[in-house]
Amino acid sequence: MNIAIIGTGYVGLVSGTCFAEMGNQVTCVDIDEDKVDMLRSGKLPIYEPDLEHYFARNRKEERLSFTTDYEDAVLDAEVIFLALPTPPGEDGSADLSYVLQAAGTIADLLVEQDDPGYRIIVNKSTVPVGTADRVSETMADRGLTTGEHYDVVSNPEFLREGAAVDDFMKPDRVVIGTSSEKAANKMTRLYEPFVRQGNPILVVDERSAEMIKYTANSILATRISFMNEIANLCERVGADVDKVRLGISKDHRIGRHFLYAGIGFGGSCFPKDVQALHRTGRQHGYDFQILDSVLSVNDQQRELMVHRLDEYFDGDLEGKKIAMWGLAFKPNTDDVREAPSHVIIEGLLERGAEVTAFDPEAIETTKVNFGDSISYAEDMYAPLENADALVICTEWHEFRRPDLARVHDTLGTPVVFDGRNLYDPSRMAEMGFEYFSIGRPHVAPQEDAEAIKAALSENGQA
Ligand SMILES: NC(=O)c1ccc[n+]([C@@H]2O[C@H](COP(=O)([O-])OP(=O)(O)OC[C@H]3O[C@@H](n4cnc5c(N)ncnc54)[C@H](O)[C@@H]3O)[C@@H](O)[C@H]2O)c1
Repeated sequence: MNIAIIGTGYVGLVSGTCFAEMGNQVTCVDIDEDKVDMLRSGKLPIYEPDLEHYFARNRKEERLSFTTDYEDAVLDAEVIFLALPTPPGEDGSADLSYVLQAAGTIADLLVEQDDPGYRIIVNKSTVPVGTADRVSETMADRGLTTGEHYDVVSNPEFLREGAAVDDFMKPDRVVIGTSSEKAANKMTRLYEPFVRQGNPILVVDERSAEMIKYTANSILATRISFMNEIANLCERVGADVDKVRLGISKDHRIGRHFLYAGIGFGGSCFPKDVQALHRTGRQHGYDFQILDSVLSVNDQQRELMVHRLDEYFDGDLEGKKIAMWGLAFKPNTDDVREAPSHVIIEGLLERGAEVTAFDPEAIETTKVNFGDSISYAEDMYAPLENADALVICTEWHEFRRPDLARVHDTLGTPVVFDGRNLYDPSRMAEMGFEYFSIGRPHVAPQEDAEAIKAALSENGQA
């Protein structure tokens, strides 16, 4: 099939590459000339596991190309995907200007043709209920006829950054929102190779498809905020949130995913999608109260580490050297949009602290926000040099089992604020660390130098 992808970001690039991998002819469009130049020269603008391999192969086999010109992509395309940003507007609702403008540009191109043919316009962006209708109106306003020249399909994307290729190649389900049988059949054919293991392709109406995406993200965000509140209560009553999590996750009604307490959710989706769904409620005269709480609990949780550090240093962070491990909003991505680490950095800088950070992938993306107001390290042990404390913000694999003896010896003071509950509090205390985590009892550090030495040699190198 001939496919155009409008918007070549995380979703557009991964979708385009995976469609090409299945033998389709894909042209990706972006208005960012630098990005398109980079892609054309064979370089990827984002980090995503496995993407490089598929990207290189499909470019080489000439099934995947990139352009800044809509015309190059749209005129031959049977299916046109819109994978454009939908950032929160001032009132929290999704800003649809990118999507509607692109739809307008496509329609303008089509009406210029003697025979505009028939194409499917697919909303892959996360968009509020009613957007398929608005895209359709945009096309119709230019004189195109639905059913004859185009159909609009809502096809929300559920890929997770950090596992995007795998998620796209083996989706739990594919949702196709359309009232057109012709469009539904074509979309089903396009997606069949991705669900050979039997996962469903659900064909629903446009509005239900749009609601499915927001509902999924809002439930996941709710679970995170809920567990963060449980963690905060655990700290106050002397319980351990990780044990509570294990205890509930074996209940099949609850399951085990999205129950980890931490420093709040980030990324380009959860915060904006929860806000947008809340806003949709308002626009329809409904006060979706839980979502308000999900967001305010998350804001509070992302500030938690800063308050904890402030308290530990008696309100005087001025000049304190803080080492940070992890900048990406989650592991295996370089995405730092809405990352809790950035909220923490802001709080630390406001209080006069000096931050040196390490992340395996997200240093360049962080530089865009913080430039040289913080320092960056090329290896994970470098920021610890004479630091007053280490703060852990992202659970990259390499932070799970570091050489803790080296961490202990390199830090100026062995103080660790762990926003991801990576280590055992009792073992950390035995090794002489002052160790703070989320929702678990604090254990006073061992003070006897000989005992610390023994514990470090026993536990230090895991
Ligand atoms: N990132 C995710 O994990 C994820 C997952 C599921 C759904 N989504 C949704 O998918 C949509 C896209 O998200 P993303 O993370 O890929 O965004 P992104 O910011 O990474 O990419 C968007 C791309 O669109 C380009 N663009 C902007 N205006 C354009 C125009 N008029 N014409 C052509 N290109 C244009 C930008 O230059 C950018 O490259 C959003 O609605 C998002 O909520 C994202």
